[in-house]
Amino acid sequence: MKALILSGGKGTRLRPLTYTGAKQLVPVANKPILWYGIESLVAAGITDIGIIVSPETGPEIEAKTGTGILFGAHITYIHQASPDGLAHAVKIAQPFLGDSPFVMYLGDNLIQDPLAEFVADFQSRPLAASIMLKQVANPTAFGVAKIAADGSVVELVEKPKDPPSNLALVGVYLFSPAIHQAIAQIKPSARGELEITDAIQQLITTQQKVAARELSGWWLDTGKKDDLLEANRIILDMYITSPDVQGTVDERCKISGRVVVGKGSQLTNCTVRGPVVIGENCLIDNCFIGSYTSIADSVSMSNIEIDHSVVLKGAKISGVQRRIVDSLIGERAQLMVSDHRPKALRFMVGDDSIIELVS
Ligand code: TTP
Repeated sequence: MKALILSGGKGTRLRPLTYTGAKQLVPVANKPILWYGIESLVAAGITDIGIIVSPETGPEIEAKTGTGILFGAHITYIHQASPDGLAHAVKIAQPFLGDSPFVMYLGDNLIQDPLAEFVADFQSRPLAASIMLKQVANPTAFGVAKIAADGSVVELVEKPKDPPSNLALVGVYLFSPAIHQAIAQIKPSARGELEITDAIQQLITTQQKVAARELSGWWLDTGKKDDLLEANRIILDMYITSPDVQGTVDERCKISGRVVVGKGSQLTNCTVRGPVVIGENCLIDNCFIGSYTSIADSVSMSNIEIDHSVVLKGAKISGVQRRIVDSLIGERAQLMVSDHRPKALRFMVGDDSIIELVS
């Protein structure tokens, strides 16, 4: 069994962050989203992993993720010249995949359920594919499956106006090599992409067995800001199990709950309510940091309150009089108020940035 992680794509929904970086490397609880997927595959015993990368994101993903040695895996990078669809990614990965069955994992997705049982079930039956489903409140925004009484998949519909069920396709799939013939038979969709839903529908139409399993745990697609904040909340809750302060915290600080402070970070006169993770070499003075906040390395913050937010590497935030909530602050971004009662706001805001002053 091999694995193919898709980490190319355009990442339009996470702009402006994705102008300068890969969305699969945006950290959740200070660890790239992509790495959770790799760890989940390795935990299921799958160590031969191909990663699809785009010309824009490839160098950064390769430099950070490396050969796989960090994870006990062997990683092969596969270059997709343009984001021509999920099935196109599988097509160009054929030389790597050979005639092995494989797990296809979208690099910006996270699932709670362990993969091992799902993989074992797939290997014990003569299936062409197995998909994962999750009940959602708004099925019109997803690929949706119609399921027969025996649990087999009857039909897949992409973003249906009139959904046949509320079961959305999750970004983790299992395929036998039969998927390659199915992909060879489909045509690009109206949006110009080779769609994996069309390839799976092709398997169904040609009477090949496609099974489905409903996930019991959470599923997160971190391609948008609010989903990323939700992933951060869930992961902080799960992975930060006890306090771990390696940096320095002065006697005026009030640290409560599960708080991680990395090496070389200095906190003075701060209140921190966990779960919170603070990276290495941060300087934080006179701040309130509320639950479900992740602060990456080398961030400096002073005289602010922040809650339920993600701050990326090297950002500087100071003097903002209102509490910063539900926010995603990009790498090296600067957010500063120099006067106690500013009379004007001065901005240099990148393309597609969003600034909301809320009551
Ligand atoms: P999407 O999030 O569906 O597509 P996208 O990355 O283009 O994002 P957006 O909608 O914000 O523009 O892709 C799911 C995952 O698959 C993501 O990790 C990117 C990856 N992908 C590829 O590797 N190759 C592709 O051709 C496409 C379409 C996506």
